[in-house]
Amino acid sequence: MMAIHWITLIAVATAYITSGNPLKDPQLGTIHLLSGGTVFVLFCLRCIAFLLLHKDFPKNEIINKLQNFLFKTVKVLLYALLMIVPVSGYLALSSIADSYSLLGQNVYVIESLYGDFYLGDIHQVLGNVFVSLVGLHACAALFHHFIVKDNVLKSMI
Ligand code: HEM
Ligand code: HEM
Repeated sequence: MMAIHWITLIAVATAYITSGNPLKDPQLGTIHLLSGGTVFVLFCLRCIAFLLLHKDFPKNEIINKLQNFLFKTVKVLLYALLMIVPVSGYLALSSIADSYSLLGQNVYVIESLYGDFYLGDIHQVLGNVFVSLVGLHACAALFHHFIVKDNVLKSMI
């Protein structure tokens, strides 16, 4: 679960740095789609790991009700966006291309989306919301480590 967590961070950072219209810059587009796709695969693995193992996860000390509420809300949002952002990216791709070749392989795109809808903006907004939330989540981890001085960050390393 820890490996999935940190590899996801690398994949999300790569997808964010290489984001842009993959039709305009195919090389960056290839990296964007591969890293974004990796985020989705890791999300599926994370869900399986969560369902099988969550009873064994170490429990953190809850400081107060507000902290518990924030923790649960951010966790649910992070899980949701780990799925929604790559899926919206795939739908965005389908809306701007009637065919797409990735590493010489034809990617299946939903042809009925092409032309009628433009979904790039929705994906862009969701991607930015996701990365902002990750920033907040990282600040919370650093807050625990340096201010509260507990084991939350150490427990992930
Ligand atoms: C965590 C994963 C991802 C993140 C954080 C992310 C983020 C972004 C962002 C911020 C943009 C807007 C860039 C800009 O125009 O300034 C973008 C564009 C785009 N992304 Fe992603 N993306 C992810 C995964 C994916 C995946 C899996 C696909 C396709 C399978 C994809 C396809 C696209 C496409 C087609 C565009 C261009 C939209 C357009 O300009 O019309 N993305 N992405
Ligand atoms: C793409 C980036 C990231 C995503 C999507 C993400 C997502 C998550 C999720 C969903 C959890 C809850 C795990 C679970 O119980 O199922 C978690 C836990 C955690 N994350 Fe992240 N994270 C990211 C980056 C970071 C960064 C940059 C840091 C530190 C600077 C960090 C520190 C932590 C810590 C300390 C925990 C453990 C919290 C606890 O023990 O309850 N994460 N992360």
